Amino acid sequence: MTTNLVIGATGNVGRHVVAELRNAGEEVRAFARTIAAGIDSVPGDLTEPDTLAKALDGVETVFLLWRALPLDAAPPVVAAIAEAKHARRVVFLSSAAADGPVAALHHGIEELIRATGLEWTFLRAAQFAANTLEWVPQIRAGDVVRGAHGDVPTTLIHERDIAAVAVRAMTGDEHLGRRYVLTGPEIRTPAELVPVIGEVLGRDLRWDEGTVEEDRARMLAWMPAAFVDAVLEDRARRTPPLHTTTVEEVTGAPARTYREWVTEHIEAFAAATR
Ligand SMILES: NC(=O)c1ccc[n+]([C@@H]2O[C@H](COP(=O)([O-])OP(=O)(O)OC[C@H]3O[C@@H](n4cnc5c(N)ncnc54)[C@H](OP(=O)(O)O)[C@@H]3O)[C@@H](O)[C@H]2O)c1
Repeated sequence: MTTNLVIGATGNVGRHVVAELRNAGEEVRAFARTIAAGIDSVPGDLTEPDTLAKALDGVETVFLLWRALPLDAAPPVVAAIAEAKHARRVVFLSSAAADGPVAALHHGIEELIRATGLEWTFLRAAQFAANTLEWVPQIRAGDVVRGAHGDVPTTLIHERDIAAVAVRAMTGDEHLGRRYVLTGPEIRTPAELVPVIGEVLGRDLRWDEGTVEEDRARMLAWMPAAFVDAVLEDRARRTPPLHTTTVEEVTGAPARTYREWVTEHIEAFAAATR
C-alpha cells in the first residue's frame, strides 16, 4: 500500500484530500504547522524543510500546496521531496491564473517539480468557492456585500472537486504528466453570487461596488501583504476566466455548483443570519 503525505492537510482542499484518501482505503499522513491528533500526522513547517524530511519517511506520493510563501522558499521543499527515499510522485495544487504574479509563483514551482524527474500532476485550480467566506462579516452586518470588480466573471470551484481530482491523480497512473485546469460549472460575477447566498439563507442580499483599497484593507486581515497585492493585481487584469469540464472528465461526476457549496457551508453563513 502507498503512503500518501498531504501537505496543508487541515486547509480548504487538504482536509478533503485526507478524507477521500482514507475513504479509498489509502494510508495517509497529514502535514501542517498545527495538526490535530487522531490520524497519522507530522507537525512541521514548509519553511523548515527538515521537518518535512521527517514527514516524508516511507512516503511515496505527496500532495503539495504552497500557502502564501515566496517562490525562493520552494527549492528546498521540492528538493526534500525529490531526495526522500521512497517518494516518486507529486500532485501539486497550482493555479489557473494564466499570467501575472499568482501564475508566476505557481508555474515557478511546477518547473521546480518537473526538473526533479518525479512523477507529477499539476492541478491548476480556478478561484475557490471558499474565498467567498471573505463576505461573512459583511453579511453579518447587513444585506450588502461591498467589494471591487463585482462585474468580473469567475468560475468558482468547490474545494471537494479539487480534492477528488487530486486523489485520482495520487492513486492512478493515467493522470501523470497532466496539467489540469479545474473550474466550477458556472461563470458568474461576484454581483451574481451574493444573491445566491441570500436565496439559500432566505434573505435579500445584494452587491455594492466598492474600491480596491477597501478590498486590500479587508484582505490584509487574513493574508500576507505580498499575497494580497498579487491577488489584487490579478483581479485588476480582469482576465476572462477559464471554463473547463475537467472535473467531470476525471471524476465522472459534474463539478459542484456554487449553490451546492453555499448549502454545504450554510452554518458559516447562518451564523450571519440576523
Ligand atoms: N484560493 C484560491 O482561489 C486559489 C486558487 C487556485 C490555487 N490556490 C492555491 O491553493 C492554496 C491554498 O489552499 P487552501 O485554501 O486549501 O489553503 P488553506 O485553507 O489556507 O490551508 C493551508 C494549509 O496549509 C497549512 N500551512 C500553511 N502554511 C504552512 C507552512 N508554512 N508549513 C506547513 N503547512 C502550512 C495550513 O495549516 P497550518 O496553518 O496549521 O500550518 C493548512 O493546513 C493557495 O496558496 C494557492 O496556492 C488557491
